[in-house]
Amino acid sequence: MENHLRSGRGQNAAAADVSKAEFIRQNTSVMAPPLVPEIKLHLAHEAVPLWQKTEEELGEMGLAPPFWAFAWAGGQALARYVLDHSSAVENLRVLDLATGSGLVAIAAVQAGSASIVATDIDEFATTAAAMNASLNQVSFDIKLDDVLHRQPPSAEVILVGDLFYEKTLAARCLAWLQQAQEQGAKVLIGDPGRSYLPKGQLEKLAEYNVPVTRDLEDAEIKKTAVWQLRA
Ligand SMILES: C[S@@+](CC[C@H](N)C(=O)[O-])C[C@H]1O[C@@H](n2cnc3c(N)ncnc32)[C@H](O)[C@@H]1O
Repeated sequence: MENHLRSGRGQNAAAADVSKAEFIRQNTSVMAPPLVPEIKLHLAHEAVPLWQKTEEELGEMGLAPPFWAFAWAGGQALARYVLDHSSAVENLRVLDLATGSGLVAIAAVQAGSASIVATDIDEFATTAAAMNASLNQVSFDIKLDDVLHRQPPSAEVILVGDLFYEKTLAARCLAWLQQAQEQGAKVLIGDPGRSYLPKGQLEKLAEYNVPVTRDLEDAEIKKTAVWQLRA
């Protein structure tokens, strides 16, 4: 997925003072992810032109891909699962790790979680998640932070949508999630079988055919599962 996104980027960045929220508003449309039609998000149609424009308009090179502008297969499946199995989060303290657009966190609020903290390392993602929360008239804490550097928090449930696409990140993430689980957290992962998903350590809870963006996935539909990290 990342390699696919890395192609075709522009090099000529012209500095411009465009705030991230304004940029998101101007370059996305309000749409519902196909598997989760009850939630509306600021989403883009194509990744590479958006990535190029982000760098050109903001005058910053080396920015992360615009993960925040898409409802990833793993996130859609996990959001659907949480909405249809609300007991998984109801009245519980939840962490949405790597929230991107905020889709999974929004679903967890709608499903009745006691509290939600959503984290991401990309300021575009935390900005988009805040805008999407308000679009859906929900609120939750959003942190711009790499929590994988710290001890896991005392969340009762950790939700992870589509984070096993890169080797080093996947290894860090798995070790941290195992530690969180040893402290008592239940870990639920939505993933379409990315390269570094540790399937051997997971139990499949549900499976969905998720409509996705062809530009990102080279496919119209991705078979995607929701998994629980085994004890
Ligand atoms: C493929 S997107 C998935 C977004 C969302 N969970 C979904 O399923 O739609 C991956 C996200 O992980 C974030 N990310 C990468 N490394 C991270 C880390 N160490 N901590 C938190 N978020 C991270 C990226 O910024 C990006 O928003």
